Amino acid sequence: MLSVAVLISGTGSNLRALLEAASEPGYPARIVAVGADRDAAGLAHAAEFGVETFTVPYRQHASREEWGAALAEHLRRVDADLIVLSGLMRLLPADLVEEFSPRIINTHPAFLPEFPGAHGVRDALAAGAVQTGASVIIVDNGVDSGPILAQERIPVLDGDDEATLHERIKPVERRLLIDVVRRIAEGDIDLAHPVR
Ligand code: GAR
Repeated sequence: MLSVAVLISGTGSNLRALLEAASEPGYPARIVAVGADRDAAGLAHAAEFGVETFTVPYRQHASREEWGAALAEHLRRVDADLIVLSGLMRLLPADLVEEFSPRIINTHPAFLPEFPGAHGVRDALAAGAVQTGASVIIVDNGVDSGPILAQERIPVLDGDDEATLHERIKPVERRLLIDVVRRIAEGDIDLAHPVR
C-alpha cells in the first residue's frame, strides 16, 4: 500500500477526490496526512476522512528556505512514500525538492509545458488558446518543468472565463491524478525512470 501526503493551499476539491478514491476497497494508496501553507479550507476534507492535517504558514517564516525547512520536518515525520501537490500555490525550495525527489508530484491546470506557473488557466485565456489541458508532473527545481506523467487536452469554449474553464479542467485533473497515483502504487510508473 502506497502512503501519500498531500499538500494544498485552497479548497482542496482535487484532494477530496483523491481521499474518496483512496477510501475505495482495492485502491492501492492511502492518504496519511494533508498539509497546507495557510489556513486552507480544504483541510476540512482531510479531517472529515480522519486524516491527519498540519499547517506550516508561509507568512510566519522569514524566507522560503525557512518555511521549506519547517515543512520538511513534517514530511519526514509523516514518512510518506509519495508527496502530492494538489493546488499548493507555493514554489518549494530547492533543498526540500532535492531531499524528497523524485517522490513529489504536482497537478497543474494546463497542458505543460504550455502555461506553467500560478495562473495556468488565466494565462491560457489571455493567450487566446483554443485548447488547454491538465497535466500531472514530477516536481523538479523549475516552475512546472519536471517530467510529465500524464496529460490531456481540454477545449476552451466560446464565452469561457477563468472560473468556467477551471471547473471543466478540474474533473480531468482528478481523473489523471487518481490514475497516476494508482499507477505509481502498482509499479506501472517508476518515478526514478518515468516514461510516457
Ligand atoms: C487545481 O486546478 C490545481 O491544478 C491548481 O490549483 C487548483 C486547486 O484546486 N494548481 C496550480 O495551479 C499550481 N500551479 P482545488 O483546491 O479545488 O483542488
